[in-house]
Amino acid sequence: METLLLTEKQLDIASKLITDGEVVGIPTETVYGLGADASNENAVRKIFSAKGRPADNPLIVHLADFSQAVEYTSYIPELAYRLAEKFMPGALTIVLPKNDKIPAVTSGGLDTVGIRVPSHPVIHRLIELSGRPISAPSANKSGYPSPTTAQHVMRDMNGIIPAVIDGGECQYGVESTVIALENEDTVRILRPGCITKEMLMTVSENVIVDKAVLNGLENGEKASSPGMKYKHYSPLADIVMVESDLKSFTEYVGKHYHEGVYALIFDGDKENFPYRYMTYGADSLQQAQQIFRRLRELDDIHAEKVYVRSPETNGVGLAVYNRLIRACGFEVIRL
Ligand code: TXA
Ligand code: MG
Repeated sequence: METLLLTEKQLDIASKLITDGEVVGIPTETVYGLGADASNENAVRKIFSAKGRPADNPLIVHLADFSQAVEYTSYIPELAYRLAEKFMPGALTIVLPKNDKIPAVTSGGLDTVGIRVPSHPVIHRLIELSGRPISAPSANKSGYPSPTTAQHVMRDMNGIIPAVIDGGECQYGVESTVIALENEDTVRILRPGCITKEMLMTVSENVIVDKAVLNGLENGEKASSPGMKYKHYSPLADIVMVESDLKSFTEYVGKHYHEGVYALIFDGDKENFPYRYMTYGADSLQQAQQIFRRLRELDDIHAEKVYVRSPETNGVGLAVYNRLIRACGFEVIRL
């Protein structure tokens, strides 16, 4: 892995930037993050301004070990420990009631905080070296697809932040699963990720997928997670999800084909596909890994309209569907 080429010196520089209250682009196993000291209000404000992020959208706090969560929260249900035991370090964020060590800027004014223990050695080492909890949203400009390489971060943040650590391509490609806990035994999925509903159900049978994961919020409806309110993952191109079999999909693209139109299809679809296309993997894990990269690449080639094959909604597929339906602004064509 490329991360092994990082020298202790590079990590020392990054760690010093963090303790000095600066913002650093950091690889994680999910996507690249914009990391800063979660306990330093000024540093956290720099994250919001670098991203152009609305102030009421809270940041996840990254710790080296779940045992540190007691320092930043006021209550940890037993279920959280059982989930942490099974899935941390890893791509899971648990929303817990915060204490006053987490400033209101970090939590977007909420009285809760999302705690994540990343498995990637670089961010893990940075938390240890700096001795600080690191708040890190995805390192994209707000509203744009999340970055899965250091080059993506450079494209969005060049001249805005002092450094990006290049750890190569992220393992999962979509952000962590965000969950809230209810009534001591119920898990509510606020954002699906590579820790799937099916995996969470091995710890508690009661796992609810929040309605906003698959659908837009109705006018005036309150979001369980502020991130649900905002336009997300949108490249410049107009993305439209098409739910159908390959034959009807191909016919549909044919009928609407003109300059600037591309199809985003599965690897297995490309044999004899007669129109301009990109592929995004053969199974849900590959689709997760590639989706954000493809959305960025479609902008690079100036795609104007993109018809995308609809992914499955079980397992990791739910995470891919959730990102795509937001990239589409909930525009789905069912044939
Ligand atoms: O994999 C990840 O989680 C990446 C890497 C960098 O760790 N981080 C990430 O952060 O995706 P961000 O800020 O881009 O997305 C965090 C999402 C947002 O939709 C936010 O609204 C939600 O989690 N969130 C954070 N804290 C929350 C809280 N206390 N209650 C409800 N939702 C929360
Ligand atoms: Mg994000």
